[in-house]
Amino acid sequence: MSDQSTDLRETVRERYAAAAVQVTEGGTACCGPQAIEVDDNFGSTLYAADERDSLPAEAIAASLGCGNPTAVADLHEGERVLDLGSGGGIDVLLSARRVGASGKAYGLDMTEEMLALALANQKKAGATNVEFLKGTIEAIPLPANTIDVVISNCVINLSTDKPAVFAEMFRVLAPGGRIGISDVVADDILTSEQRAERGDYVGCIAGALSFAEYHEGLVAAGFTDIELSPTHAVADGMHSAIVRAVKPATAPISVGSGAALPLDQDDSGCCS
Ligand SMILES: C[S@@+](CC[C@H](N)C(=O)[O-])C[C@H]1O[C@@H](n2cnc3c(N)ncnc32)[C@H](O)[C@@H]1O
Repeated sequence: MSDQSTDLRETVRERYAAAAVQVTEGGTACCGPQAIEVDDNFGSTLYAADERDSLPAEAIAASLGCGNPTAVADLHEGERVLDLGSGGGIDVLLSARRVGASGKAYGLDMTEEMLALALANQKKAGATNVEFLKGTIEAIPLPANTIDVVISNCVINLSTDKPAVFAEMFRVLAPGGRIGISDVVADDILTSEQRAERGDYVGCIAGALSFAEYHEGLVAAGFTDIELSPTHAVADGMHSAIVRAVKPATAPISVGSGAALPLDQDDSGCCS
């Protein structure tokens, strides 16, 4: 990774760590001294009232997504779901309910403070079919062919290596597996400079791919049945969009083990 990419990733980590601490201290993830630029196009208002009511308040307060991927992913009993950039855990906890005791919901995040918040929310929710993993979405710490559905809510735009994320999603999915993602996507006519004029990188705007770039990236990774559907505008020419695609059932079995990183826990179930 270049120095610039490393710096950008560290900036993202610091900002989301601050957001997690803010929620842990009783606030919400937006609107503090380290505010991440979000408005009503982001966060918990994108969930149905019954979904919000069923979760710990801190999971709702930490919601920083730009959609509701659990609503678009069409989850079924017994499935294995992986949420990339799981934050305070809102989509992991909702998915865990939908796949039931015979299924499993994994959350992956690189930010210790977010993982600590997610673990606390899991405990409050009493969810047992849930596992949070520490790592990056560019090097997913799970074996190949072990996941039925990859979801993600406003995270892939934050990656400094999107081809690696697409390749990793493909690797961990079982043949026939699918993705159901919410992300910010730019109109094809917007240059990188024009995207950056509309919002910053950590606020999920400047790093967004265009519709054509997203489509090309997924094709290059091997996905088929690709659909990109804008749902609402988040800035001029920039949209929250639902992204769906399938790993063909006939795809050769992927290789690679994705070594797991230990999520260091103390007795309270929190991260060190
Ligand atoms: C915009 S928040 C979204 C959180 C959550 N999906 C939600 O809907 O509330 C982005 C999250 O992705 C995590 N993240 C950003 N880049 C990442 C990367 N490259 N690898 C792993 N996690 C990442 C951040 O730590 C943060 O928790």
